[in-house]
Amino acid sequence: MQNLITKNRMAKPFLKWAGGKTQLIPQIENYLPVAIKEGKRITYIEPFIGSGAVFFWFIQKFNVKEAVISDLNTDLINVYETIKSIPEALITNLDAIESDYYALDGEEKKRHFFYNIRDLFNLKTGSKVISAAYFIFLNRTCFNGLYRVNSKNFFNVPFGKYARPKISDHINILAVSKLLQNVTILNGDYTETLKYADKNSFFYFDPPYKPISKTASFNAYAKGQFGDEEQFRLAAFTQLLTQQGHMWLLSNSDPKNINPLDVFFDDLYAKPANTIFRVGAKRRINANALKRGEIKEVLIMNY
Ligand SMILES: C[S@@+](CC[C@H](N)C(=O)[O-])C[C@H]1O[C@@H](n2cnc3c(N)ncnc32)[C@H](O)[C@@H]1O
Repeated sequence: MQNLITKNRMAKPFLKWAGGKTQLIPQIENYLPVAIKEGKRITYIEPFIGSGAVFFWFIQKFNVKEAVISDLNTDLINVYETIKSIPEALITNLDAIESDYYALDGEEKKRHFFYNIRDLFNLKTGSKVISAAYFIFLNRTCFNGLYRVNSKNFFNVPFGKYARPKISDHINILAVSKLLQNVTILNGDYTETLKYADKNSFFYFDPPYKPISKTASFNAYAKGQFGDEEQFRLAAFTQLLTQQGHMWLLSNSDPKNINPLDVFFDDLYAKPANTIFRVGAKRRINANALKRGEIKEVLIMNY
């Protein structure tokens, strides 16, 4: 993996994403297994990849011999696969969209262009590369870079009023493409990553949040919600990993932010092998609860 790193350019996330973990990286680093920090060679598995903030940092910093990423969101995984296999074709399409967008005079014309692309994206009749280009364009120009779909799986985030957002970032797309060459990319449920684990595997889980208030509905990333039943299923999966000897770290928002008596995760992960820490986090997308103040995340691990 080391030789995949471009000499002068680090690959970084190419999307904005609800729950993106850039802010949490120093805390995550603090709580990594000592052996990994000391250079142990491992397989890195991130089953809820989203924009991959932790993934990009991790695999360029530590001794990763193999990496596996997955997400349930088919359109998102199509972007990763496109960047991996045909980055130049993607850049050509992004360049065209970017120059058309920049040439439009005034917000109304840009807004119209945005909704037109959103309709085309939702038709899902384009090629995979066009669909990936639309995905990146919509991510860069929609409100707050959110990804939200309705019950028909149609992307429905409104226009974001950015005058000159960066849409086609050649250098980063090429750096990401290079980095992805040895990465296994899966589109499916997180449980499917298990068959890729070997005896030196480390899993990082960043599942959709438990909503931090009644009005926070940003956990509707893809079809279906990640409700309490899903949190129970994930906890059972982590227990299976522990039984099989794999190391894992999981992050989530702390329900105690809203209700100090809420011990949902403390109960759910109250297994002898697990440890729970609460760490400060700045949330980019939050509900108006707690405004922009510091809120806590839980970090749960089995080592
Ligand atoms: C909190 S986001 C991850 C954010 C990521 N850590 C980042 O920095 O951008 C959760 C992700 O889990 C995905 N997801 C939801 N349910 C899933 C499932 N059952 N299996 C795999 N991925 C799932 C969503 O599509 C979403 O991209």
